Amino acid sequence: MTKNDFRIYDTPQQTAEAFGDYLMEEAAKKEVFHVALSGGSTPKILFDYLATSYAESDVWSKMHFYWGDERCVPPSDDESNYKMTKERLFDKTPVPAENIHRILGENDPAEEAERYGELLLENMDVNDGLPVFDMVILGMGEDGHTASIFPHQIELLESKNICDVAVHPDSGQRRVTLSGPVINAAQEVIFLVTGAGKKQKIEEIYNQNGDWKSYPAAHINSVGRQFWYVDTNAVEGIV
Ligand code: 6PG
Repeated sequence: MTKNDFRIYDTPQQTAEAFGDYLMEEAAKKEVFHVALSGGSTPKILFDYLATSYAESDVWSKMHFYWGDERCVPPSDDESNYKMTKERLFDKTPVPAENIHRILGENDPAEEAERYGELLLENMDVNDGLPVFDMVILGMGEDGHTASIFPHQIELLESKNICDVAVHPDSGQRRVTLSGPVINAAQEVIFLVTGAGKKQKIEEIYNQNGDWKSYPAAHINSVGRQFWYVDTNAVEGIV
């Protein structure tokens, strides 16, 4: 990892806007663009920006939306990554309903992980048995997790499955997550990470010190392009 892997902006808003513009530029280049979204709170400003600045874009019809992970809850639950994305993005933009491929959090987790993996194989190009996303957008937790690959289940980085069932280490909440090999098979992986709370983990990963090897985010190395869109607070004094 070098400083060239980072695109750094003064604020989370500027980071989200810069990445949002990049995302739409990249999607516009393709006939069909398969993108996996991250969940949690960081993407909220990205979706709000896209919903206002690209509300009328004709690029949306090319984009197929998936998730890097989803909580095993109904789509109406406030914990649902789909619910958050629907409210902030899909309800405000002309994304065709048939282009939204949510993980069915209300279903049995193991059955849904199987179903979703098969859907990915059907929907996009496959290389060496893995679905190839045009882009996977990831966040990173303060424990170094990414998607729903947590440090206590770091073996999911090498899973033979397309999707796996993960368990949140604190809440015990079950999640369906893309496996590490699927994330790394993407043509492009983007980490969207902001805030001082993420700085320590970025420092350890960037400098390969401390417990960096135990952080799943440290082991995401796309076969294609990979960039970190970050704000100054997340990398000041590091990069
Ligand atoms: C989720 C996410 C998860 C998230 C990180 C960072 O379902 O929660 O996919 O991997 O990206 O936990 O979350 P914040 O953006 O809220 O810090």
